[in-house]
Amino acid sequence: MISKEQRILIFDTTLRDGEQSPGASMNHDEKLLIAKQLEKMGVDIIEAGFPVASEGDFLSVQGIAREIKNAQVAALARANSNDIERAWQAIETAQNPRLHTFISSSDIHLKYQLKKTRAQVLKKAMDAVIHARRYTKNVEFSPMDATRTDRDYLCEMVEAVIDAGANTINIPDTVGYAIPEEFGELIAYLFYKVKNIKRAIVSVHCHNDLGLAVASSLAAIKNGARQVECTINGIGERAGNAAMEEIVMALVTRKDLLNFHTKIKTKHIYHSSRLLSQITGIPVPPNKAIVGANAFAHESGIHQDGLIKKKITYEIMTPQSVGIPSSHIVLGKHSGRHAIQNRLEKLGYNLNDEAINKVFRRFKELADVKKEILDEDLEVIVYEEALRMDDKYRLVYLNVVSGNVAIPTATMQMEINKKIVQDAGFGVGPVDATFSAIRRITNTDYPLMKYAVNAITGGTDAQGEVTVQLKYNGRSVVGRGADPDVIVASAKAYINALNRLECLKANIRTAEVE
Ligand code: KIV
Ligand code: ZN
Repeated sequence: MISKEQRILIFDTTLRDGEQSPGASMNHDEKLLIAKQLEKMGVDIIEAGFPVASEGDFLSVQGIAREIKNAQVAALARANSNDIERAWQAIETAQNPRLHTFISSSDIHLKYQLKKTRAQVLKKAMDAVIHARRYTKNVEFSPMDATRTDRDYLCEMVEAVIDAGANTINIPDTVGYAIPEEFGELIAYLFYKVKNIKRAIVSVHCHNDLGLAVASSLAAIKNGARQVECTINGIGERAGNAAMEEIVMALVTRKDLLNFHTKIKTKHIYHSSRLLSQITGIPVPPNKAIVGANAFAHESGIHQDGLIKKKITYEIMTPQSVGIPSSHIVLGKHSGRHAIQNRLEKLGYNLNDEAINKVFRRFKELADVKKEILDEDLEVIVYEEALRMDDKYRLVYLNVVSGNVAIPTATMQMEINKKIVQDAGFGVGPVDATFSAIRRITNTDYPLMKYAVNAITGGTDAQGEVTVQLKYNGRSVVGRGADPDVIVASAKAYINALNRLECLKANIRTAEVE
C-alpha cells in the first residue's frame, strides 16, 4: 500500500545563518528583496535575522516582518530575556511571527564557552521558552551543537522545553560533524525516548563541514523530522548550510524512496540562486548541484548521444523544472526596450518602468561595444542599475597608462557624497595603480583579501567581472563590478566593496551567534 505523502516544512535561514557567510552581508533593501523572493518560492518560514545583533539587523527583521504575508517570519534570540524581547519587538507586527531561541547543549560548549553546568543551562533553556511563550505560541527551540551532546541530556532538555511550551524542536548539527546514518538514528532516538515529542515538530539544521548537510537532512526526514532548515545555494557559516534547492529537488526526484513534499515552487529555484549570488557577490560554483552552470551541461559524446535519443538516459530532472530559461536568446544593438523587458521577465525580474529604463540605457551602451548580449550580461546590468544600494562612492572617470616601458599610472575622478574628488596613483600594474588612486581619493586602506577576474561570457569582447574582498574589523565585504574593460571593472568592484563596507560599518554587531 502506498502511504500518504507527508509535508516537509521549509525553514529558510539565508538571511540569518546565510548572512554569516564571509562577505555575505546584505543591506536592508537587499534583504527585503530576498525575503520577497523566498515568499514567492513558497518557503514556509523565513528566518529574517538576529535582531539583538545590531540596530541594522533589528530594522531589517522588522521591515521583513511588516511586508511578508504568506510565510512565517522568525527572529533568532539567545536564551536570555533581552534577546527575546528585542526579537519579539522586531516581529510582533508579522502576520505569523515565530520566536526562535537557542542555547548550547554539548559539554564542549558548556565547559569552554558558556562555563556553566548542565543544570544551569537546562534552566536557562526552559526560562527562555517560558519567556518567549508570553508573546507567542509559535516558539522554536534549538540545543546548539546537538550532535556532540550527551544523548540523555539532549533528551532531557528537549522534553523540558516542550513542557515549557516550545512547539518546534530544532536539532542542529552546528559543526557539520554527523554522518547521515548516525544523524538519522539520533532523530529516531529522540522520537523513541522523549515522552512528549509528538507535541512538537522536529526540525533539523545541518552545516556542511564534511559536505554531508543535505544527506543528513534527508536521513533526518526519513526518521521523522518534518522541518528542514536550509539556505539558497547552501551559503552559511564556514562551509555553509544544507542547500534548499538540493533538498527540495531530492524530494521531488526521488519520490519513489522519499514520499514527502514541500510547498516550494521549483520553477523559482534558479532565479533565486542567481539573485542571491548577484546581491552577495558569492559566485555559484559551476559544478554546484541543481543551480551550477554545468548542472545540466553534457560534455561527453556518449552522454550527448544518449540525450538526443532520449532525455531520461542522462537527465534525472529537467532544467525547466528548476526554472532555467529554455531558450538562449541573444540580444544585440537592434533589440528594443520591449525585447529587453520580455527577457528580464523570463529571467524572473519584474522591474518597474524607471528600473527598466536604466537597464535599457546601460544595455544600449554595452551593445555598442559587445556584439551579443547574453542573459549573464543582462543580470549584471540589472544588479548594477536596479538592485544595488545607494552609493556613497561613485566612479566618474578613469584613465590608465601602462605597458612594459611606462610606470603604470591611474588618473581618476570620483564622486564622494555627491562631491567630485580627483587624484592619481602608481602601481606595479594597471590594477594596482587604480586601487592606489582609489585609496588616495577615499583616504582608506583596508586589507585586500581577494581579487579575482572572471569573463562573464565567452569571446574577447566579453565583460570582465571582478570580485574584490576587503577586510574590516574581523569581517569582510565583497564588491563586484562588470565592464568590457577589466581595469574599469576592477575599479567598480573596489568601489562597490567600499560602499558595502560603509553599510557594514553603520551596522556594527554588538552580539553574534557564538
Ligand atoms: O548552527 C546552529 O547551531 C545555529 C543555531 C542558532 C540554530 O545556527
Ligand atoms: Zn547554523
